[in-house]
Amino acid sequence: MKDYNKITSLFKRKGFIWGPSPEIYEGGLAGFYDLGPLGTLLFNNIANTLRAAFFEEKYYEITAPIIMPKKVWEASGHAGGFTDPLVKCTKCGAYFRSDKLITEAHPKEEVDGLTLKEYDTKIDKLGIKCLTCKGQLSKSEPINMMLKTVIGVNTEAFLRPETATTTYLPFKRYYDFFRNKLPFSVFQLGKAFRNEISPRQGLLRLREFNQAEAQLFIFKGEKNKFEEFKEHEKDELPLVTYKAQEKNKFKPVKIKLKEAISKKIIQNKAYATSLAIAYNTIIELGLKEERIRIRQHHPNERAFYALDAWDIEYKTDCFGWVELAGVHDRGDYDLTQHAKYSGQDLSVKNNGKNEVPHILEIAMGVERLLYITLEQAYEEEKERTVLKIPLVLAPIEVKVLPLMKKDGLAEKADEVYELMLDQGLYAEYDETGSIGRRYRRADEEGVPFCITIDHDTLKDESVTVRDRDSMKQTRVKISELDEFLDMALEGEIDF
Ligand code: GLY
Repeated sequence: MKDYNKITSLFKRKGFIWGPSPEIYEGGLAGFYDLGPLGTLLFNNIANTLRAAFFEEKYYEITAPIIMPKKVWEASGHAGGFTDPLVKCTKCGAYFRSDKLITEAHPKEEVDGLTLKEYDTKIDKLGIKCLTCKGQLSKSEPINMMLKTVIGVNTEAFLRPETATTTYLPFKRYYDFFRNKLPFSVFQLGKAFRNEISPRQGLLRLREFNQAEAQLFIFKGEKNKFEEFKEHEKDELPLVTYKAQEKNKFKPVKIKLKEAISKKIIQNKAYATSLAIAYNTIIELGLKEERIRIRQHHPNERAFYALDAWDIEYKTDCFGWVELAGVHDRGDYDLTQHAKYSGQDLSVKNNGKNEVPHILEIAMGVERLLYITLEQAYEEEKERTVLKIPLVLAPIEVKVLPLMKKDGLAEKADEVYELMLDQGLYAEYDETGSIGRRYRRADEEGVPFCITIDHDTLKDESVTVRDRDSMKQTRVKISELDEFLDMALEGEIDF
């Protein structure tokens, strides 16, 4: 088991994650964090891996505004339905989320889909009092989670609580762009905001965060004829149906998608394909298969817009199971609503008839992926602490280290460092401290390979390359370094 305070103190010290922000003002606000230099490089690597993975599946990236007028959120349902149940302490005035109060005190209690009254009955029955002063708690009330702002002088607006809604609005523009042909798919990666009440899970529950959300627009009748399914029908996914959960069975069962469709575990081929794309993308990011399950939402648990929903979840050391991605069948909910509230026709021709398409969504939280990547990477070994960040995501790919500064070694190392930069690698030069200390420093920063320049380098134009994970070393000619590192960064070299 990993200790959250211990691991996050390393992430802070090494410039991955700082906060809560702004730290110098009374210790900051929960739910807001800075990404330091290595955190930002890691974030960009995750974002770009997602971009490439989605593009390969024909999702085109778009960018929409973060702020939208109130009407958009009335249409999407967020103005009315995007709430958390909240209780207030009648003595000290502290606020708590009703559902979290219950599950934190009694983890086995079922809270999904309860009414406000049912929360209050449970809180009463379990004798839960204010966590701060043990005072009596008020009745639960729904509190909207959107952050409000004003455009110009008095136009009420909200910061988006999801990128998805803002992705749906240019639907007619996409229709033109994709030459009036469905299905098509788009993707957005950007900020979203949720006014969480007392978020307590560090980087897992943020008030400002990035989402990567991919949307497939498809006619209802085409969902089960989806061509791309053929490429995924043999994919095996670790599924936990809601019916299994009703029988208290949470262990995932690996099922081929073809079988999941024929047994109607998954309702249609397009949705199954979305699940496969989300799952494969997460595996590509280097998260461990044995820690992942795909759990179907109980009908009571689904978001207000979803016909079906499965979450891809990861078993963290510090917080148990957490959602990495939500895959939702949003039906024609969104386009129907936006047509109604905007007064624009958002239907398109299907076999001569006008029809509002359905939307299948993959939603991921990028900071969650970042935190979990780091939590998974953190390892304490006998002599060192090391971040075994997957090679594709390593913020700094190589460090160039002269064994010592004198005898022309620093100059030679500088030459090699320039060579690495010219090759397009994220390289760093480090000449401070003993070579052992510098290796430890590189390990804590998750640098996969260190290149050491020693006296032999001056004689034979070769260097030592040290592998982070095995700590093994091998000798490589400088003239062959580029090819060697290309292969090493692809995981193709056995040290
Ligand atoms: N767009 C779905 C979500 O924010 O979870």
